[in-house]
Amino acid sequence: MIRQILFSAIFGAATLTEAAATPLYLNDDADIEARVEDALNRMTLEEKVGLLHAQSKFSSRGVSRLGIPEVWCTDGPHGIRAEVKWDEWDQAGWTNDSCVAFPALTCLAATWNPDMAMAYGQAIGEEARYRKKTVLLGPGVNMYRSPLCGRNFEYMGEDPYLASVMVVPYVQGVQSNGVAACVKHYALNNQEDWRDAVNVVVDDRTLHEIYLPAFKAAVCDGGAWAIMGGYNLYNNEHCCHNQVLLNDILKHDWGFDGVVISDWAGVHDTREAAHKGIDMEFGTWTDGLKNGKKNAYDDYYMADPYIRFLRTGELSHKELDDKARRVLRLIMRTEMNRKRPYGSFSSPEHYAAARRIGDEGIVLLQNKGNLLPIDRNKASRILVVGENAVKMMTVGGGSSSLKVQREITPLEGIMAACPGCAVDFERGYVGDTGGEYNGVVSGQNLNETRTASQLIADAVAKAKGADYVIFFGGLNKADHQDAEGSDRLGMALPYHQDDVIEALAKANPNFIVVNISGNGVEMPWINKVPAVLQGWYVGSEAGEALADVIFGDVNPSGRLPMTFYATLNQCSAHSVGQFPGVWRDNEKIQDCNYAEGLLTGYRWIDAKKLKPLFPFGHGLSYTTFSYSKPKVNSGSMTADGSVEITVDVTNTGSREGAEVVQLYLADVKSSVPRPVKELKGFRKVHLNPGQTATVTFKVTEDMLRFYDDKAGEWRSEPGKFEAHIGSSSTDIKGKTDFNLL
Ligand code: GLC
Repeated sequence: MIRQILFSAIFGAATLTEAAATPLYLNDDADIEARVEDALNRMTLEEKVGLLHAQSKFSSRGVSRLGIPEVWCTDGPHGIRAEVKWDEWDQAGWTNDSCVAFPALTCLAATWNPDMAMAYGQAIGEEARYRKKTVLLGPGVNMYRSPLCGRNFEYMGEDPYLASVMVVPYVQGVQSNGVAACVKHYALNNQEDWRDAVNVVVDDRTLHEIYLPAFKAAVCDGGAWAIMGGYNLYNNEHCCHNQVLLNDILKHDWGFDGVVISDWAGVHDTREAAHKGIDMEFGTWTDGLKNGKKNAYDDYYMADPYIRFLRTGELSHKELDDKARRVLRLIMRTEMNRKRPYGSFSSPEHYAAARRIGDEGIVLLQNKGNLLPIDRNKASRILVVGENAVKMMTVGGGSSSLKVQREITPLEGIMAACPGCAVDFERGYVGDTGGEYNGVVSGQNLNETRTASQLIADAVAKAKGADYVIFFGGLNKADHQDAEGSDRLGMALPYHQDDVIEALAKANPNFIVVNISGNGVEMPWINKVPAVLQGWYVGSEAGEALADVIFGDVNPSGRLPMTFYATLNQCSAHSVGQFPGVWRDNEKIQDCNYAEGLLTGYRWIDAKKLKPLFPFGHGLSYTTFSYSKPKVNSGSMTADGSVEITVDVTNTGSREGAEVVQLYLADVKSSVPRPVKELKGFRKVHLNPGQTATVTFKVTEDMLRFYDDKAGEWRSEPGKFEAHIGSSSTDIKGKTDFNLL
């Protein structure tokens, strides 16, 4: 009897007989590590290697003989990509895979609300689960180093603390569905041009203080089950097999027990892959070597070539077993976890989540004369201008492109939100008339025969008779316009949009510009346009969320997750660093020197006392807020103690609204150079008119540390610190100080 009880306790089986019938690795009541070992011990060398490389565009083998399921990956960070053919990027032509497009992650970051990140992760995880996927290839948390980087729209802004706070709930939300999040692109993948040839040169402090924290948070706090290696190089080693990034930092220092998945065709050598941390190789073409033989998955670096080296003894079985264990652990956490939920797809709840995130992420940049919100009762005639009012934005931009069940365009949203208004439309300009990606088509006919000047003239003529004019412009995920694989060519709005905006500003004073983009843009007309919104790529519910804010059904509470520079040379990557890199003589590798070091984004703006177009953390509201003087509960703290910074925030306006109270800490005197101040806390508080909230930030010693690159550890130094409380990185409402003893 005792033996039976013990056995059940250990292996969770009802009876010895039953246990004998059910192999341990199949018993999902048993300890995962025991199951992994049992499965591993039953596998042949070929079966272990089979786990480590693709068998199709987005899947890898399980072990069919043992009933261990395959691993199915899916893009992307904003929604579940339509099914592609086994061996091609083109569409499989399924009719059950039209998804919900959630807002781009810049919009999520702009909510400054971790609850939105949890809602996002749960919803997109349910979509992935319902589509029977094992791994969601997202979120992306590369830092926004330059406004020209093509994929910034997929990431969470310029600040490591903001991205660290927002990525954790997203990962937890996804994985609550028994689907692995695969956080990407680890690491330093901050440009698209020559992304597989750029060798990033960056000092250790900057690496650890700016570019790694969001990945570390995803792993150590979020418990991410997968990480994607980036295409680029660091330390002259490709990030998909990189001793420092993968073995030393990710797996050793951070204790990552998940799987490192290569970016597609990111693996370049079998021995390097064996030794330097990659666990699964996926490929752009069948052989992972880009342009190779058909059906050459067995030619992948981690396929037959790996087997050959293992058979000769040149490569160790110990490394192989570690990789196989990690993949088996991923499978046990997902496919072989019978207790995981079943997900849901294109549900009303998911559309509601997408809209709520959009509502909270849209940023009111400027609102002179309180032109916004539009009062429906005073808006009998509204003119909507701009290609981005009608162009579908969910198709295109690279691997995050989606086949959606619906996308409400801004024009549709405005019309639906104001049925009593006469809403007219003028194209204003022609940008990108395409609407196809990998065989997913928008079905829109954006062809236009009028000349640029005629388009402007037609818009101006109608603008004169309108109560309000709303221009939707910006970028559009076409090449060089916020897209994977190509960086922007400059910060100006493309397609002569500035001319359209200038002309409309002259034609009607009640003029609103909505910038649809994942990046900052130059706004030479900013003093001629009363109201400006940052509209992001909001996805399926774009028109709904934008109309919610424009008509005031929602009070905007978004804050910029990145600095909007007035001109490109205000960005340190372009004024001090290199972007993109510089080719070496052999023309195969280009070095990109992050010479700006720690001083990215607002850290540079502070250091050089620049005046950006709009600062990091900026965003207006339809109400107003007042702040009390910040207080600290003690003048000093010990290393194992803490201090509390408190501030009272009051809604002094006439309608409810949300304020993002931001805490920046400054090390007044340090032995090493440090930024003027750094974001170390934020709280989004919803307040009714007249209501006051007391916001308290607990400051602990770890928040005061810098990375000591000589000692290879984080540490703080005793001395005076200042706590700056602000509603943006430049709008500091007050400060207080304390001493670290
Ligand atoms: C792409 C992207 C990556 C994506 C993968 C699969 O090249 O860099 O983000 O998940 O390939 O499409």
